[in-house]
Amino acid sequence: MNNQKAILYLIFLIMTSCAEQKEEPIVVYSYVEEPHSYAKPNNAFIEHLNLDITVDFKNERIRGTATYDIVSNNSTQIILDSKHLEIDSVTADGKDTEFSLGANDKLLGQPLTITIDKNTKKIAITYKTTKDTEALQWLKPQQTADKTNPFLFTQGQAILTRTWIPIQDSPQIRISYEARVKVPKGLMAVMSAENPKTKSDDGLYQFQMKQAIPSYLIALAVGDFEYKAISDRTGVYAEKSMLNRVYEEFSDMENMVSAAERLYGTYAWEQFDVIVLPPSFPFGGMENPRLTFATPTVIAGDKSLTSLVAHELAHSWSGNLVTNATWNDFWINEGFTVYFEMRIMEALYGKERADMLALISRQDLDDELDNLKDTPNATKLKLNLKGKNPDDGMNSIAYDKGYLFLRTLEETVGRDKFDAFLKHYFKEHAFSSMTTEKFIPYLSTNLLEKNKVNFNVDEWINQPGVPKNQAIINSDRFKNVEQTLQEFLASDKINNEVTTDWTPQEWVHFIRNFPQTMTDDQMKTLDKIFNLTNSTNSYIQMVWYEQALNHDYHGKNIDSKIQEFLVSVGRRWYVETIFKAFKRNDRTEDALKIYEKSRPNYHSVTASTIDDLLGFEPDQEEVKNIE
Ligand code: BES
Ligand code: ZN
Repeated sequence: MNNQKAILYLIFLIMTSCAEQKEEPIVVYSYVEEPHSYAKPNNAFIEHLNLDITVDFKNERIRGTATYDIVSNNSTQIILDSKHLEIDSVTADGKDTEFSLGANDKLLGQPLTITIDKNTKKIAITYKTTKDTEALQWLKPQQTADKTNPFLFTQGQAILTRTWIPIQDSPQIRISYEARVKVPKGLMAVMSAENPKTKSDDGLYQFQMKQAIPSYLIALAVGDFEYKAISDRTGVYAEKSMLNRVYEEFSDMENMVSAAERLYGTYAWEQFDVIVLPPSFPFGGMENPRLTFATPTVIAGDKSLTSLVAHELAHSWSGNLVTNATWNDFWINEGFTVYFEMRIMEALYGKERADMLALISRQDLDDELDNLKDTPNATKLKLNLKGKNPDDGMNSIAYDKGYLFLRTLEETVGRDKFDAFLKHYFKEHAFSSMTTEKFIPYLSTNLLEKNKVNFNVDEWINQPGVPKNQAIINSDRFKNVEQTLQEFLASDKINNEVTTDWTPQEWVHFIRNFPQTMTDDQMKTLDKIFNLTNSTNSYIQMVWYEQALNHDYHGKNIDSKIQEFLVSVGRRWYVETIFKAFKRNDRTEDALKIYEKSRPNYHSVTASTIDDLLGFEPDQEEVKNIE
């Protein structure tokens, strides 16, 4: 039985007199109400998965069998989540059993109800994915770095694992897994599990994830990539033409893991690798255990964007060890992770760099509060996403307000006490899930009361906006940047010497803070001196392109650069920021023209966000996979 479940052996009836009747204890599992899954785990839940699949690039399908060890509470059925899957057959302990797929919900998919009896130990589901699967992105050779082989990757978070494996797809249900994956010869397969370091001769790969993880962390990537070790427990996977660059960029990875361990305890997953995926990967990074998935847009050549690795590594504690129980508790994953990320960055690169990152987060928070000013409930840490796509509801409040909350707590009680508290929190709740409601009393008892501190926890968590008692974040380097900007705005002149040692973060801060009154000539001057339009740093590109749109700037080759960026990069945050700027500046028509070209390169997560933003209705025949 999973150690995470608070199991109350409630009634042994009248203990002595009934002992000889061998009455089964009634077991009460404490899974909380889940708005995004059909599973009823308090009746029956999955405990271990044995996945046996073939990856068929020709037909763009995965097919095979998912066999589960289950635990049932005397239940006659077990319910799984399934979306856009074809279910061929189901067995219970090796014998055919009845199953039914319920009505399809656009968001949640279908409940897969399987008949079991109280002794059933294993169920096996033979299935295929379809063209509509949202988790998978099948890439043509042309869409990869090396351009010779196809590529496939999965994205499970938040509720997409059910589109490639029938499963109980709630983050509070944890399973261990093993897998046997057949891929075309010459390709390599890796998962969020113990991984191969070289290609197999026959295209067959075996995997094991011994620790219990939530379904959204099951992940698979298949392609022509290689491994290069950084230390005996860290390393990188990338396509051949990128491997050395990726290795150099991430060469501090072992130091990051050691720094993280010094802060909040032993790394629990043995290995920490990163795979750099093709540019259509919809996120900066995804914290799949043992193997973070990452966008190539962070390979800047100067390690300037590697806080992303610190972030995904931090999830090895906050998220992967202590997991948000539902997507309404998303800040339990991301707020803690941003806090931890900043601490790793500070430990490795010093306070100056960490201060800049913290101030960027603070400005992101102000921007997000402004975006959400008409929907204040969306600015609470505890969300209510029932009936909503968690992907849309999970905005950067969880990250940046979550961070500010924890940083304010740190400053209130002092770093040493806060660190001791966090270390203990991760240890005590390892391999289990956390609700916001459970965290609040835990915080009171173990930090606030202990240190006799009064703190408006409820206001931070359950009220919109940011409370007054917030930590004030300062960065001396950013103060200089702001001064340089003011001087430039007043004089049209900028001293090259001041900017020579600027990091990309300083450039981002500079560009982001252009006032709307900035003139076209001023944009031109900056572009002439610093060639911002042709920057090779993806973060600078994003903010500069956004400002170009806000200021109707068309200098140099910027219009074609923006298009090129949108067509080649599928990272949702970047793409959405730029398309939003088109829209804000009444250029939706132009945006749609570019989108027609770029959309086929996007993963469903990005495409569905941009469809909504631009009011784009996908042609049902052409692209079927976006709802
Ligand atoms: N777990 C998230 C990505 C995610 C969030 C996927 C919600 C699906 C739904 C990941 O850890 C993350 O936060 N990535 C950020 C990077 C980070 C440095 C803030 C991203 O992708 O930009
Ligand atoms: Zn994250």
